[in-house]
Amino acid sequence: MISHTIKVQSVRVVLLTTFNNTKFFSSSALCSHNFLHHFNNSPSRLIVGPKLSSNYEKNLTTIAKEAVNKMISAPAADRNKEPIYNVLKEVLAEKCSSGGELKALEIASGTGQHVSYFAKKFPSINWTPSDVDKRYFGSITAYVEAEGLTNVQEAVFIDITSAMEDWPEGVKSTEFDLIYNANMIHISPFETTVGLFNAAGKLLKKTGLLITYGPYAECGLLTPDSNVAFDESLRAQNPQWGVRDIEDLVNLSAEHGLKLLKRFDMPANNKTLVWIKE
Ligand SMILES: C[S@@+](CC[C@H](N)C(=O)[O-])C[C@H]1O[C@@H](n2cnc3c(N)ncnc32)[C@H](O)[C@@H]1O
Repeated sequence: MISHTIKVQSVRVVLLTTFNNTKFFSSSALCSHNFLHHFNNSPSRLIVGPKLSSNYEKNLTTIAKEAVNKMISAPAADRNKEPIYNVLKEVLAEKCSSGGELKALEIASGTGQHVSYFAKKFPSINWTPSDVDKRYFGSITAYVEAEGLTNVQEAVFIDITSAMEDWPEGVKSTEFDLIYNANMIHISPFETTVGLFNAAGKLLKKTGLLITYGPYAECGLLTPDSNVAFDESLRAQNPQWGVRDIEDLVNLSAEHGLKLLKRFDMPANNKTLVWIKE
């Protein structure tokens, strides 16, 4: 099974197996860690585990297959995570420089690509991913384990439209510095948006931030044509879905003690909106 060894940044790695066009390597230099390391943007994965024995090589192949199977990859999430990270870096700079650990809740984590990426970039933020669809939890865990992250809690079930008394104890009793939500507001009924702002009003600390990402209309106007077509396709799938207007969100935010602090134009005609708890 071991076909050859190569050197990567002076770490000796051994090609273990190739699966789904992905190469899996083990690293003897990092063998004390028991997790998988995933090279972003590369068709390679580094398996970091205890010293290799012939039995263990077999296990690693199995682990590799399982990890690939569990990591769901949404191409859009891979494309937009870096531009969103650049916004987070700017708006969280002051909070992150305060020295203590910050707490972040992600609503509608989906595959886990965003939370794993941001958790790696912001080691001083402790993240709690969540989703209404438990089928994503394996993927979230796989991404977190692939990066060897220790600042991400296990994903929890949260239906953002449900009463907060039914939410996990560790979430409803925590004051968060940040609530992050991407690509849910337009791909769900408006009740999810109401639930999101309600949660932000209740769970954020004073001056805590709610950050939302996606396409938005402004003052009744949706541009460009590609966003109009996207909105039509969403409403065709479900008449309760659709791109929301920033003005409606501003009104909703005021009902929950928040206001729009900053807005960023993003690639592909999306926006990142930063809401602050007053
Ligand atoms: C398009 S995906 C976005 C996933 C991820 N945030 C991203 O940007 O890649 C929409 C997500 O919203 C979640 N969602 C839909 N309705 C929800 C609800 N009522 N409560 C929580 N999450 C919900 C779905 O399960 C799904 O993971």
